[in-house]
Amino acid sequence: MLEEVEATTHKIIIGDSRKMEEVDDESVHLVVTSPPYPMIEIWDEQFRKMDSRIDDLWAKLDTIGGTSEKNRIVQKIYDLMHENLAGVWKECYRVLVDGGIACINIGDATRKVNGLFRLFPNHARVIEHCERIGFVTLPYILWKKPTTKPKYKGKGAFLGSGMLPPNAYVTLDCEFILIFRKGEPRKFPPHDPMRYASKYTKEERDRWFTQIWDIVGTRQTLPEVERRVAAFPEEIPYRLIRMFSIIGDTVLDPFVGTGTTMKVAMQLNRNSIGYEIDKNLLPVIKDKIGVSQSRLDMDFRVEIIERPTVQEFRAV
Ligand SMILES: C[S@@+](CC[C@H](N)C(=O)[O-])C[C@H]1O[C@@H](n2cnc3c(N)ncnc32)[C@H](O)[C@@H]1O
Repeated sequence: MLEEVEATTHKIIIGDSRKMEEVDDESVHLVVTSPPYPMIEIWDEQFRKMDSRIDDLWAKLDTIGGTSEKNRIVQKIYDLMHENLAGVWKECYRVLVDGGIACINIGDATRKVNGLFRLFPNHARVIEHCERIGFVTLPYILWKKPTTKPKYKGKGAFLGSGMLPPNAYVTLDCEFILIFRKGEPRKFPPHDPMRYASKYTKEERDRWFTQIWDIVGTRQTLPEVERRVAAFPEEIPYRLIRMFSIIGDTVLDPFVGTGTTMKVAMQLNRNSIGYEIDKNLLPVIKDKIGVSQSRLDMDFRVEIIERPTVQEFRAV
């Protein structure tokens, strides 16, 4: 093991990650993040604020008739939501070092459009955009989330008639952790001490490098704010950071939320950078990563940059 680990630095930027001008090209080793999911209702408002074209189209949807025109508008909204996220993926590509990895947690969405139930396969759209940007797609992880039993009525996942085929739908009980690489794998000198000090155990390797992760969420017991921003359990960034970075690396989260990725990066002796557009979350992030408490067990510096908030944006 290493005798001494240098102090780590952590930068919280309250601003829009579609432009990450505070981050130099090729200065980040790993991205671990979870964006707002397109076509999931809780994020509608944020996408409307992000891009006035999305806002205009939602407003138009309420005023027009005609099923095919409505379907066309919904499709356009969905495209624009992903176009906006792609602006962030493009910035991630720019700031990653050669061989750097991006891990993106995203779930598909189901929604009724014009009274008809349909799937919005967000994971497929993210893969398409990232490949177009230049990322290499690597085998991804299915995070199996605990679900309630299928329901027959109301907002339940099971939309069928009792036990009668053929019109029921499969429950979406997995989210995706997509994994991309920029260019060739990273290269290290032989016996690099940081790399060796960062190694995982055989037992961890066998458990983590497998496609299905059955991680129990703690959703019910989480504080309200964590549920509102759909925070992921610490075990997700913990595994990803141990798998795809070494001590002293820099980890970026362009959609910080409550700061789970930054907190775990700090605990694992990595530097971190996080962007969050909602300034109301700053006290939550500070509290989670422990800015206000004295942490005798850890040596770290935190910098906070608050950009002036902009209400309306255009996709980059
Ligand atoms: C799904 S939540 C992330 C939750 C986080 N993984 C956690 O554990 O708390 C997505 C976050 O991205 C933020 N966000 C959305 N668009 C953004 C943008 N363009 N730039 C920066 N943050 C953004 C939202 O305000 C929200 O807090």
